[in-house]
Amino acid sequence: MEQHSAPLWDAVRQYVGQKRRRFHLPGHKGTASLGGRGRVGKMDLTELPGLDDLHSPTGTIAAAQATAAAWFGADQTYFLVNGCTAGIQAMILAAVSPGQRLILPRHAHRAVLGALVAGGIRPRWLSAVGHPEWEFPLGVAAQAVEEALAEGDAAAVFVPHPVYQGVVSDLARIVGAAHCRGVAVLVDEAHGTHFGLDERLPMPALRAGADAVVQGTHKTGGALTQGAMLHLRGQRVPAERVRRALDLLQTTSPSYLLLASLDLARRHLATRGRREHAALLDAVLGLRDELGRRGVRLLGSEDLPAGHALDPERLTVAVGEGRGPAAARRLAEEHGIQVEYAGADHLVAVTAPADTPADLESLAAALATLGVSAKGTGALPQPGWPTQVLTPREAVLAPAVAVPLARAVGEVAAEPVAVYPPGTPVLWPGEAVTAEVVAYLEQVRARGLHLQGVGAEGRLAVVGTPLGR
Ligand SMILES: Cc1ncc(COP(=O)(O)O)c(C=O)c1O
Repeated sequence: MEQHSAPLWDAVRQYVGQKRRRFHLPGHKGTASLGGRGRVGKMDLTELPGLDDLHSPTGTIAAAQATAAAWFGADQTYFLVNGCTAGIQAMILAAVSPGQRLILPRHAHRAVLGALVAGGIRPRWLSAVGHPEWEFPLGVAAQAVEEALAEGDAAAVFVPHPVYQGVVSDLARIVGAAHCRGVAVLVDEAHGTHFGLDERLPMPALRAGADAVVQGTHKTGGALTQGAMLHLRGQRVPAERVRRALDLLQTTSPSYLLLASLDLARRHLATRGRREHAALLDAVLGLRDELGRRGVRLLGSEDLPAGHALDPERLTVAVGEGRGPAAARRLAEEHGIQVEYAGADHLVAVTAPADTPADLESLAAALATLGVSAKGTGALPQPGWPTQVLTPREAVLAPAVAVPLARAVGEVAAEPVAVYPPGTPVLWPGEAVTAEVVAYLEQVRARGLHLQGVGAEGRLAVVGTPLGR
């Protein structure tokens, strides 16, 4: 399909060009200001004659989605205005019925929780594969997925591709194992819209055979924040169920700034993406070599388990145990460089075609000043998995009460609890709080690390009512 057109963008421009007197919403009537009147306000439209209907598209949105599907290799593509979150929830709700099981890693993004709760879906958790020198999950072992599939009760498998630090698991093998059993594979490709633009990037999930894939077009595809896409291929995830789920999850007032930016991002990727990413990869691979010579330790392919691969455009830099947040502050305050993410022992810097050679050189120079990282061994060992006594739905929708950590043992978690970063829950809702988990959380607090799901005063939300205690 011809990729130079951008039907939705053209429709928005045409509407603005007609200079109509606006007696319709949004109430700013085209004057919304982001620090000065201009095209942004005029283009902040929603569904109007000629601009189609996101929930039942037959015109320009349908044409823009079809053009995107052709480019990404999908049978059907849906534009998302509530980030990857809406797409992740829709594909899970479409593939897994209430009470059925979904195989997914414990380090899945918390966006999955909305689907587990709305759908009454039961998780079958997978542990992550890791590396002794890095504190974050690198991915899932295909063998662990095969073993979970052998239980014979899962309706779908959910795979992050890649994890935040740019590492992908052996998705083709996971897809093969799942499809042998007629099980659908749902992929969170939030950080991988650009995969497939160069042979040096990981294999895109659709090419690996995934049935449903959510891409954060706003993350690495050039769209405005919140703009994302959900792609379907084949019949394992029924399009009709996806459409119904998206009807539940997406706003009825979609922003045409977001929608048009998805159309333009696809056109840009299709017409210029290969050239731009080839140039970026040449530059970034050179930068990786240079940083290595200067003694900076970067996550590299040599760190990965068999079958895993790395997006070289994402730079994960070791800074030493516990030094991540301070190193990120130093880069910002002393070098004017803001990285994407500071883990306890590493930083993540995201590169993109918009970076100039001067930007990349400044990054390299600044990283080199952080000094060679002495990798620490101080990471706390993760506690064992607690028993799931309620489904996530039962736990999240039940009355809950906040109790001091010390009194939480034996109670049932009402919210996910995670050390952030990296944000992998040690407790998912519905799991019984163990003494081991509480001891771990006390140690985390003593180290001053940030905990999600435990308030500043050290209280944890557990299922129950105040009267019940
Ligand atoms: C791996 C992963 N999946 C899903 C999401 C959710 O994406 P969004 O913020 O577009 O809803 C994120 C957000 O950072 C993410 O990192």
